Amino acid sequence: MSCKGSQPSGCCAPKAECPPEKTSCCGGQEPKPSAVHDQVKDYYGKRVVTGDDLQTNVCLMAKTKKPAYIREALAMIHDEVQSKYYGCGLIAPEALPGCSILDLGSGAGMDCFVLSKLVGPNGHVTGLDMTDEQASLDVANKHIAYHMEKFGYKEPNVNFIKGYIEKMVAAGLKPNSFDIIVSNCVINLCPDKRPVLSDAYAVLKEGGELYFSDVYSDKVVPEEIRKNEILWGECIAGALYWRELYQYAKEVGFTEPFLVEASEFSFRDNSWKDMLGQDGYGFLSANYRLFKLPAEAKDCKSMSATYLGGIQACEEVFALDYKYKFKKNEALVVPPHVTAVLMYSRFKNFFKLEETTEIAKKGCGLPDPFQLARSGDIELKKGCC
Ligand SMILES: C[S@@+](CC[C@H](N)C(=O)[O-])C[C@H]1O[C@@H](n2cnc3c(N)ncnc32)[C@H](O)[C@@H]1O
Repeated sequence: MSCKGSQPSGCCAPKAECPPEKTSCCGGQEPKPSAVHDQVKDYYGKRVVTGDDLQTNVCLMAKTKKPAYIREALAMIHDEVQSKYYGCGLIAPEALPGCSILDLGSGAGMDCFVLSKLVGPNGHVTGLDMTDEQASLDVANKHIAYHMEKFGYKEPNVNFIKGYIEKMVAAGLKPNSFDIIVSNCVINLCPDKRPVLSDAYAVLKEGGELYFSDVYSDKVVPEEIRKNEILWGECIAGALYWRELYQYAKEVGFTEPFLVEASEFSFRDNSWKDMLGQDGYGFLSANYRLFKLPAEAKDCKSMSATYLGGIQACEEVFALDYKYKFKKNEALVVPPHVTAVLMYSRFKNFFKLEETTEIAKKGCGLPDPFQLARSGDIELKKGCC
């Protein structure tokens, strides 16, 4: 054991839960990257060459209709990058022009290049990945100049960095430097999700958003599934029990997660389905938004919020999550946690907030993505992850 202690949580958790590099609370030792990281590097660096090599369809992009401005950007992406895309539907939040974005686990760079187009020449995108070979940094770096020319930029607005997403600051990323962090089907591959969230919090600017797509389970995934290397590589075995996301977000300082969309996925091969299904484990992919807000956001009250329009492809309606959908020029009384986001994130530029004597209730209990997906009360994801 390179990390001491036997607590089930914190950075001195048992070996399988350790971040890949030195952790100050573990006696300053320099543990080797965990076996899980090597296994995942091998999976995406050697085993998987294109999407056809994946055993399940968890990490494949659905070819469903996207807004025109995204379709235009996608059409400009180099074929080799497209062929090595293992994300599940483009991960592009709204209101991007001029933003500085970080993509965790950027792979061959597909999301980064599309985002590079969407942020425009005054924005910037950084991709972070631990794998050089095949599908990842080598391919992404090879195509920077191609996309710069294709988008008509004078200089590249995208760069790729090698490093672990559990150790963003150690990889050279500056604290408080990104407006948005995205990630597409990657955090589930990390043995411990907490250092990913805490470093994401550190490198986000105040008001910044972590918008990510990932796989979740409906209960804690047992050891016999977690140790299956293929199921781990396919983004299933490392899925976080969805309730834990709320716990970790709170511990780190993020707002409560806002659930945007979710969809239970199907398996290409019934043998996986049987193995996972026999004990009744459910898996789905979901997009969540978490915000890093200033301390004063905690004092927010219910307010009347009016969407003024102006967000590309959301001319008439802007959906903060599955529940809060704002029609242009229609006031909606929102609870304090929603006021806080509309007051302190980049979305503040698109809203008018007014005091009100009405009080909006938040609703009790956490939104169960499985229940919502099954009941049709949430927009189904266009992609699987
Ligand atoms: C399922 S692929 C997704 C790649 C990319 N987001 C896409 O949509 O094509 C997972 C990627 O995450 C990277 N990855 C997994 N765990 C990582 C970690 N702990 N730190 C950095 N990169 C990681 C892998 O190297 C691989 O490129």
